[in-house]
Amino acid sequence: MMLLLLFGVWLNSASAANLGVVQTEGGQVEGQSHRMGLFSTVDVFKGIPFADVPGKWEKPKPHPGWSGILKATKYRDRCLQVTLLQTKTQGSDDCLYLNIFVPQGRKLSTNLPVMVYLFGGAFLLGASNDVAVLGNSLYDGKEMADRGGVIVVTVNYRVGTMGFLSTGDGRLPGNYGLWDQHAAISWVRRNIRAFGGNPDNVTIFGQSAGAASVSFQMLSPYSKGLFRRAISQGGVALSPWALQKNPMALTKKIARKVGCSRKDVDVMLTCLKMSDPVGLTLAGKINVLLLLGKGVVMDLLQLAPVIDGDFIPDEPSQLFHNTAHFDYLAGVNSMDGHFFAGVDVPSINKKNVTSVEQVEGLLAGLTKEKGNAAVSSAFGAYSSHWGSAPEQEVVKKTVVDIETDFLFLVPTQIALQLHANNSSGARTYSYLFDMKTRIPGFPHWVEAEHAEDLQYLFGKPFSIPLVYFPRHRDVSRYMIAYWTNFARTGDPNTGNSRVPVLWPPFTKLHQPYLTINHNITKSSVRYDLRSDYVTYWTKTYSNLPSVRREEEEEEVEEEEEDGGMNREGKLIQLSV
Ligand SMILES: *[C@@H]1O[C@H](CO)[C@@H](O)[C@H](O)[C@H]1NC(C)=O
Ligand SMILES: *[C@@H]1O[C@H](CO)[C@@H](O)[C@H](O)[C@H]1NC(C)=O
Ligand SMILES: *[C@@H]1O[C@H](CO)[C@@H](O)[C@H](O)[C@H]1NC(C)=O
Ligand SMILES: *[C@@H]1O[C@H](CO)[C@@H](O)[C@H](O)[C@H]1NC(C)=O
Ligand SMILES: *[C@@H]1O[C@H](CO)[C@@H](O)[C@H](O)[C@H]1NC(C)=O
Repeated sequence: MMLLLLFGVWLNSASAANLGVVQTEGGQVEGQSHRMGLFSTVDVFKGIPFADVPGKWEKPKPHPGWSGILKATKYRDRCLQVTLLQTKTQGSDDCLYLNIFVPQGRKLSTNLPVMVYLFGGAFLLGASNDVAVLGNSLYDGKEMADRGGVIVVTVNYRVGTMGFLSTGDGRLPGNYGLWDQHAAISWVRRNIRAFGGNPDNVTIFGQSAGAASVSFQMLSPYSKGLFRRAISQGGVALSPWALQKNPMALTKKIARKVGCSRKDVDVMLTCLKMSDPVGLTLAGKINVLLLLGKGVVMDLLQLAPVIDGDFIPDEPSQLFHNTAHFDYLAGVNSMDGHFFAGVDVPSINKKNVTSVEQVEGLLAGLTKEKGNAAVSSAFGAYSSHWGSAPEQEVVKKTVVDIETDFLFLVPTQIALQLHANNSSGARTYSYLFDMKTRIPGFPHWVEAEHAEDLQYLFGKPFSIPLVYFPRHRDVSRYMIAYWTNFARTGDPNTGNSRVPVLWPPFTKLHQPYLTINHNITKSSVRYDLRSDYVTYWTKTYSNLPSVRREEEEEEVEEEEEDGGMNREGKLIQLSV
């Protein structure tokens, strides 16, 4: 007992430095110090405001500040959004807060690299402190900060109707969620030195809609000089779900649902501006049941960034000159499209046969804009390795490949190429994450599902060791090493952490990528990721003539509420 007590006293005196009260532009904040190792702690600040409570569909405004010391020890509300099952809403308008994780050794840290995380959730849901597992938020930055020696910042931004409603013109330009992200990154740049960070060494990173957001932040002319590097995990601005194509039609549909349908758009907007945010948020939900075999999940992901002539002045593919000075690391999970495939073609996860007709039906849904010719062309490309009597597993995996390629992999490869081709000295890195899934109940052939990379990057195998095996700690250690080295130097191989294998840069002429799993060896470096399929979609497919299909737009339209909870829940999980 006495010995323990003494040990405790010694531990406290051996304790690492901590920041105590920090002066920010808005006032003083005080966080909490968490012990990690014998001589290491992480100072955690939760719920620091980076902007004022935003006006409805207005850009974020500076926070007026506070007097006294703000106790930054609790996460603040998420931005108003539908719940996972979309039956009600949660969160608040007062949501523009961020959280900071600062690693400390025996001496107070200074000049640390900074990594700012943008959460995913289909631009519809999510928060800086999302998905608590055993009381530990998935995006808790302590392990990354401690193991990688970087400051981790996680930020909130508006989502759904409140974050992305747009008329596609100056009346309601849209992109409010992107402006929030921009305000958060700017706050970090102005204030992080007081926390021991280097404002010239900021990396933004994100997954899914957060990864596409990272890409949009890079493309925006407003980001010049704001940060230095960027990481996209499973999404880019070129992804077909990342940009709203017909914002006015969606705004009218939402107006109908909240009783604001008016012939005159200005009158409709006045009505929308007076409507209850909860009703507006619920009106932005998505309903999988509407598909009834007629469309694909992708069609339902509608509230998203727009070309507003301002933050995003042009088609994303025309803005890559703006990315030339950022180092960029981007990749996908090998089965990023699996959840989507399971909703669009449910038989892939069951004993049921997945038929040629089902594969063609999926392709028809994805390639609507090109009509029937595209279906046989794409089917030809994807069945070329089938032989005369393909095993069911081959057919089912093909369905997953189609969704992964279309929604994630091909757009990411194009973004990497456009970045590398435009780069002026900045570096480009490409990866494929292919750990076997840990989600119970899936067929044995399922590899890395959408978002399954995050648990390793955020060090869950270390913070909740009982639910993981040693191989999970291996991949977690590798990812944290590559990611934080990249944040420190722009090169994932160089920095504070040793890496298992040299990851070569992606260039104009060579397209290597690192295959990331628990066993990284020389043979994990491969070349030309799915290049036949990248070529198919970018050359063959894009050269097919487009067809007009106006009726189709209306099909996924008339709303029937309720029921089908499981399928809705499943869909939302996949878009985390
Ligand atoms: C970024 O941080 C690393 C490590 O602290 C340092 O070597 C590098 O010079 C920094 N870069 C800038 C632009 O300050
Ligand atoms: C650089 O980016 C622009 C878009 O800003 C794109 O049109 C162009 O093709 C890219 N350059 C190269 C060499 O790929
Ligand atoms: C799948 O197979 C089961 C059992 O054979 C059958 O009851 C069910 O209707 C099938 N489902 C589909 C979508 O074909
Ligand atoms: C990038 O440049 C390479 C080499 O010139 C070229 O083959 C490739 O098509 C370019 N990619 C894009 C997307 O422009
Ligand atoms: C790791 O991969 C190498 C080939 O890259 C293979 O020879 C070895 O058996 C693998 N080890 C494990 C534990 O899977």
